[in-house]
Amino acid sequence: MCGIVAAVARQNCVPVLIEGLRKLEYRGYDSAGLAVLNPGLNRLRSVGRVAELAVQAAGVEAEIGIAHTRWATHGVPSERNAHPHISGGLAVVHNGIIENFAELRAELSAAGYVFQSDTDTEAIAHLLQHTLKAEPDLFAAVRKSMARLSGAYAIAVLKEGERRLIVARHGAPLLLGVTEQGSYAASDASALLQVTRSMVYLEDGDVAELSRDGYRIVTADGHPALRSVTESLLSADAVELGHYRHYMQKEIFEQPEALGNTLEMLGGAGALSPNFFGAEAPRVFDGVRSVLILACGTSYHAGLVARYWIEQIAGLPCSVEIASEYRYRQSVADADTLVVAISQSGETADTLAAVKHAKAQGMLRTLTLCNVPESALIREAALKFLTRAGPEIGVASTKAFTTQLAALALLTLVLAKGRQRLSAADEQTHLAALRHLPVAVKKVLQLEPEIERWARRFANKHHALFLGRGHHYPIALEGALKLKEISYIHAEGYPAGELKHGPLALVDKDMPVVSVAPNDALLEKLKSNLQEVQARGGELYVFADRDSAVEASEGVHVLRLPEHYGLLSPVLHVVPLQLLSYHVALVKGTDVDKPRNLAKSVTVE
Ligand code: AGP
Repeated sequence: MCGIVAAVARQNCVPVLIEGLRKLEYRGYDSAGLAVLNPGLNRLRSVGRVAELAVQAAGVEAEIGIAHTRWATHGVPSERNAHPHISGGLAVVHNGIIENFAELRAELSAAGYVFQSDTDTEAIAHLLQHTLKAEPDLFAAVRKSMARLSGAYAIAVLKEGERRLIVARHGAPLLLGVTEQGSYAASDASALLQVTRSMVYLEDGDVAELSRDGYRIVTADGHPALRSVTESLLSADAVELGHYRHYMQKEIFEQPEALGNTLEMLGGAGALSPNFFGAEAPRVFDGVRSVLILACGTSYHAGLVARYWIEQIAGLPCSVEIASEYRYRQSVADADTLVVAISQSGETADTLAAVKHAKAQGMLRTLTLCNVPESALIREAALKFLTRAGPEIGVASTKAFTTQLAALALLTLVLAKGRQRLSAADEQTHLAALRHLPVAVKKVLQLEPEIERWARRFANKHHALFLGRGHHYPIALEGALKLKEISYIHAEGYPAGELKHGPLALVDKDMPVVSVAPNDALLEKLKSNLQEVQARGGELYVFADRDSAVEASEGVHVLRLPEHYGLLSPVLHVVPLQLLSYHVALVKGTDVDKPRNLAKSVTVE
């Protein structure tokens, strides 16, 4: 989604703006732009990559500026719609959606403002210009204008003749970077690590004034706000590509380390403890009668795996809801339900709204599993668990998913123990399996060369089916999502038993069918389903375990994972599917890390 970088400094800030936009590229965008004061308002915009904007900006110098990567919502990707948007001597960049923009546009057009773009953002620029007529102080005018905006947004504003920037947030992320040389703002910390580690996270409704000497923040109702300065733990190296070709590849190979970090507390712990989920967890978990998981996309798939675990091991009813549906559905609330939000970014607008919706209905036992400290979802829930996967830059989620699964396995076992459903021996067996997980994943990664060979056979296909059963069915869904997302091959995940109820009609020699075939209790059932495919001339690509009784034959290709991993088997089985998608995308030559139309951090509905 859109990314914002803003700077007011003692020296030329254009390189910082450009480098900040580069760091935000992973969020997904289709055009980029910046506006600086030197001393008049100077705007540059381009459709396409930040690199093209950088060429235009070469030689431009200024000490104050705002910059933006746009992910189109209102209006096609074009230079005309790219930010910043201007009204008189004032420029605005914006992330989010202004829901009442049509009404504002009509009102401002009637007042004589001429719109140059199709965006909702331009309405903010004209609204501000209009407000300045009655309220000439820019800071006060931004506050006043915010009261007129509906929706979720973060904005940065500059104006000719001013030596300050005004930024504000309501429902979309924005943080400040504080240094001796100046003040900065950005959509996430990665953009500002180049200048500082000291970050101030703005809260909803905050308006901040930034000058080269410092900053001040007020709340929506105008009271001075004290927001703590957080030292970012994000390593600058963590967002570098190193020797890898793509972030997705790097992140797939970082999974052993990411899992080790997420489960680090198990190293010194001889037993499972609810305190892994925070000091308040024993109170929040006590008396829980069911679990409701809220998430989107890949995080939703992690929730689907957890449903199998939570019901089987903890004996608690568990439902998993797509956040964008749940938030508008009239469901039946139960105060004794543990509401678990899963999100890599912690900023997904639908998941955030779904948690707020659950809380508004009296469900206050909330837990967020998230990869980003200080994110909106972390702050929204009573309990938090950080997955510690490290920054995930590739749009396709990989290490975030497996670390979410690790966190969910831990949660399952803690809940099971709290309900006296885990014997001491089983507890130790599960703990040993969790501790061994990084090593087990490392072995699976060694399958890459063979998967690369398989990938070549997918590159000219237009459709693919992914099959799984039990807690590997969500892994089939995830495999299909990965393939469609980065290789643009249409792919569907199905529970294998459902094949004959419809999708079998699609199977022919041109439809590769990928199957997750661990050596578990459902293997024989799955094999019958695979025979149905084979009998119709379908080409099967089977990811089995070392000891799964599945043999390769004409039209049946089999790759074996090193060992069957019981409860945690889905964590292992998703890895070859990630590698398959990655290599298919490579063969097809798509933009692996920034697939078309998609964004990393989905901060709009
Ligand atoms: C995964 O590959 C996707 N890019 C996407 O489905 C993602 O998982 C989804 O948008 C949810 O994001 P979140 O985990 O940051 O909430």
